[in-house]
Amino acid sequence: MNAAKTHGMAAVIERGAITVTPVRPDFIARVTGLDLRRPLSAAAIDAIEAAIATFAVLIFPGQPVCVDEQVAFGRRFGPLDTGLQTKLLSKVQTRLGNDAVSDISNVAVDGGIADRHHKQAMMNVGNQFWHTDSSYEHHPFRYSILAAQTVVGRGGETEFADLRAAYDTLDDATRDLIADRTGVFFSHNTRQWLGIDDSPADLTAYPPVRWPLVRTHPVSRRRVLWVDSKVREISGMSVPEGRALAHELIEHIGQREHVHAHRWTPGDVVMWDNRSVLHRGRRFDLTERREMRRVSTVDDSASLGTAD
Ligand SMILES: [Fe+2]
Repeated sequence: MNAAKTHGMAAVIERGAITVTPVRPDFIARVTGLDLRRPLSAAAIDAIEAAIATFAVLIFPGQPVCVDEQVAFGRRFGPLDTGLQTKLLSKVQTRLGNDAVSDISNVAVDGGIADRHHKQAMMNVGNQFWHTDSSYEHHPFRYSILAAQTVVGRGGETEFADLRAAYDTLDDATRDLIADRTGVFFSHNTRQWLGIDDSPADLTAYPPVRWPLVRTHPVSRRRVLWVDSKVREISGMSVPEGRALAHELIEHIGQREHVHAHRWTPGDVVMWDNRSVLHRGRRFDLTERREMRRVSTVDDSASLGTAD
């Protein structure tokens, strides 16, 4: 049964047992009425895909999934990425034992909190910059699904910024300026800026790719401003001019009216559409344990090709 009723200022959508409650209209919603630890019906998966096409970020509270349950849930939305783990992250450490799962934590393989100079801790500092997961890949990620195990007392929120609203609110001159331009997205752009000492093999694991700066979402048909911290060059501009413009556009995307901060509770699962939002983790005390797990599906859209 599908039904909609008013709940405060926002419509609550009920599809069978699933309730989708808007937190921010057309941007963020809470999804309840499901147990993600169990296999879901095809109707439930369809309802989630319909909801994420509108909202872009879905919060599933109270879902303490284990690794296998999270992987099984993710697989319902398409093939999962294993390349990031096998090409890069496994060189830092392998703690969770599944190439489809990224270890978004400051926990070392011995189970203790990693020292702040440990690459596991330093690498995750890069998550504090606005990005989509794997915008630097020829086939980027479609959905990311992040599950919280251990959260910190202060900070550590994940913020989401709406790329559709960002495009909609660009002034006409800037829209004209970027309309036919492309950006070069490089996997280690922020890591190099942060001074992380990556090996030549790491730096060439993902050849930089070129994307249009304006894309159309294939389901919602909304236009998105496709820029993140991985952009190191913009077509038709000098390198400094392109980087300055990318920085300006990211500032526009990150304006507070486009942003929602999710404060984590253990057991939260948050699923987002990388084609519609940027995200970033917020700073926290690295001597506190923060433990999250992520699985991501691979999108079938493709970049314009390698840039070098
Ligand atoms: Fe991320």
